[in-house]
Amino acid sequence: MGAVYEKLLKCYDCVREKTDFQPEVAVVLGSGLGEYAENIQVAYELPYREIEGFPVSTVPGHAGRFIFGYVGRVPVVCMKGRVHFYEGYPISDVVLPVRLMKLLGAKILFLTNAAGGVNPSFHAGDLMLIRDHIATFAPNPLIGPNVEELGVRFPDMSKVYDRQLQQILREAAGENGIFLQEGVYTQLTGPSFESPAEIRMLRLLGSDAVGMSTVVEAIAANHMGMRICGVSCISNLAAGMTDQPLTHEEVQEAADKAAPAFARLVTESVKKMGEIV
Ligand code: HPA
Repeated sequence: MGAVYEKLLKCYDCVREKTDFQPEVAVVLGSGLGEYAENIQVAYELPYREIEGFPVSTVPGHAGRFIFGYVGRVPVVCMKGRVHFYEGYPISDVVLPVRLMKLLGAKILFLTNAAGGVNPSFHAGDLMLIRDHIATFAPNPLIGPNVEELGVRFPDMSKVYDRQLQQILREAAGENGIFLQEGVYTQLTGPSFESPAEIRMLRLLGSDAVGMSTVVEAIAANHMGMRICGVSCISNLAAGMTDQPLTHEEVQEAADKAAPAFARLVTESVKKMGEIV
C-alpha cells in the first residue's frame, strides 16, 4: 500500500473512532463563506486538529473543522476551512480531505470558493456556477504512483462538473431569485494575487474566474468517481480590471455581502441533491 493511501486510511480510522455519521453530500466552504455552517443542523463537529496527520490550515478565516449534520433531510459533511497548496503542504495533503469525505460515504462533492472575476461582465458579489476548469497552472494531485484503490491512472476529465448537478443549481437559483453567472474557473497556486498581464492571459484562455483552490480537489474527486459541482463567489474583479489593489479583507467583505444568496443557493441545491443520491 502506498504512503498516500495509508495516511488517508489512518485519517479515516481516526474519524470513524469518533463518529459513524454517513454523509451523502460533501460541501467545501470557501474563503469567507464559512458562516454557511450555521445553516446546518449539526450532528457532530470534528476539528481537523483532532484527526491525526490531517492538514490544518494556517490562513485567517479558514478555521478548520468538519461539520456533520443535515441540510433539510440530507446528511452532509461540511468543511469549514480548507488547506491550500500555497501554505506549503504537499498536494496529496491538500486533496486528502476530499478523498476522506468520499471514504466516509459522500457521493456528491459541492465545492465553493472566493474568486477574482476575470470576465468583464462580472461584478463583485456575483455567484458563478463552475461549468469547467483550467488546471494547467496548478500542480496535479494525481502525480506520483497511482493510488489504484481510489481510481485509474488516466482519468477522463470531459465532464468533471456533473450536468445534472449544474441543472439543480440553475433551478435552485431560478426558484429563489438568485442571479447565477456561469463560467470557467482557473486555479493558480497563489499566494500572491495575479498581475494584470496574467489576468489578460487568463481571459484569452477562456477563463471567467480565478482563485487558489477547488480545481485540485475536483481532480482528486473525479478520480474517485464523485459527482461534482461548484460555485464561485466573485469577491473582486481581478488585477488590472479596476484601480483598486487587491486585499484578503476585500475578499472577506464581498463574501459577507453575498452570504445570504450563497446560503440560500447551497441549502436549496443540497435539498434537491438529496432526491438524486
Ligand atoms: N485572484 C486569486 N484568488 C482570489 C482572488 C483573485 O483576484 N479573489 C479571491 N480569491
